[in-house]
Amino acid sequence: MKRIVHIVGTGTIGEPLIGLLTDFRDRFGIDEVTFHKRTPLESDKSRIRHLMERGAHLVTEPEAVTAFEGMGQKVSYEAQEALEQATVIIDCTPAGNENKERLYSKLSGPRGFLAQGSEFGFGKPYARGVNDEAMVAEEDRFIQIVSCNTHNITTLIKTLADDGADGMALERGSFVCMRRANDVTQASSFIPAPTVGKHGDPEFGTHHARDAYHLFETLDTRLDLFSSAVKLNTQYMHSIWFQLVLNRDTTLGEVTGRLHDNHRVAVTSKSQANLIFSFGRDHGYYGRILSQTVVVLPTVLVRRNREIIGFCFTPQDGNSLLSSVAATLWRMNPEWDDVAQRLEPIRRWLYQEI
Ligand SMILES: NC(=O)c1ccc[n+]([C@@H]2O[C@H](COP(=O)([O-])OP(=O)(O)OC[C@H]3O[C@@H](n4cnc5c(N)ncnc54)[C@H](OP(=O)(O)O)[C@@H]3O)[C@@H](O)[C@H]2O)c1
Repeated sequence: MKRIVHIVGTGTIGEPLIGLLTDFRDRFGIDEVTFHKRTPLESDKSRIRHLMERGAHLVTEPEAVTAFEGMGQKVSYEAQEALEQATVIIDCTPAGNENKERLYSKLSGPRGFLAQGSEFGFGKPYARGVNDEAMVAEEDRFIQIVSCNTHNITTLIKTLADDGADGMALERGSFVCMRRANDVTQASSFIPAPTVGKHGDPEFGTHHARDAYHLFETLDTRLDLFSSAVKLNTQYMHSIWFQLVLNRDTTLGEVTGRLHDNHRVAVTSKSQANLIFSFGRDHGYYGRILSQTVVVLPTVLVRRNREIIGFCFTPQDGNSLLSSVAATLWRMNPEWDDVAQRLEPIRRWLYQEI
């Protein structure tokens, strides 16, 4: 049986994911990559053509086939056919939950369905390296790849507070997510000034801490977390201020040692987001670094022996891409050792120092 990965949506997350899965399909053990593009647009022609030249197959609704083919873009499958034949479906739209209800829950063929950060409740939340051991092959057909900032927050907690058999040494975690207003791929949503977000959740503040809480809950760990968010008038990377209060003493030496020991964490002495972004452009996969977080070492401080305070940057789509690929490979063959081996060719974009 052909192993087909089908991506729905060609936006900020969908487009690089289609490219990554297509470029490495042989190493990942994928026979075919198909992608669903809803809207035939003259302005999108060049990027769709490039994805197809790399080997991905275009899928659309029956009523859009003529328009795509009129632009010289061969449609390989119609939408329903592509869904039915897929081994794993990765929804990269802001409508994953709606699509689950309307389409995915009616399909028996695919071994797995993934949706992205905004789609809370789609399935078990997952971030590579944080809760792999919580995934159950027979149960977790639906998986939510948590948002980029949730990857960052949960990786920080796991790296700095996880004491293994002694449990999680976290008393309380607070985070301020300073978000870029829009992505370089987006032409709208620019804001002229910093815009603060409301604390819509009385327990967690914003969805970032809530999502991190639920991710750790899959490991039977319940944490006291709170987050706030502010949008900045920049297109560069998200930045996060964090404060982790431990229930035991620590030292700066222990903290930096733990950061260095996690190969999914990058550290930097650069204090400006544009320099990290620029590093990604020069040394990343199509401009992306796949690390879960980039911690600015000179900002890291241990206060009163138990509080770890600092700043970090979020490799926004990079960390979600890594988890999306890892979860896809795991749904194809639910053996984490095999997943790690197949991920080897993209490990070079997991930088430990930037
Ligand atoms: N942006 C990031 O850095 C980032 C990072 C981590 C996670 N995420 C998550 O990834 C998901 C997608 O975000 P994104 O930033 O990639 O979005 P986006 O850039 O707006 O792209 C979404 C794409 O989905 C397609 N689409 C299909 N059905 C749709 C529908 N019913 N409504 C709207 N769009 C539909 C559209 O493509 P066509 O019309 O061309 O098919 C659109 O280009 C969200 O869950 C988000 O939380 C985003």
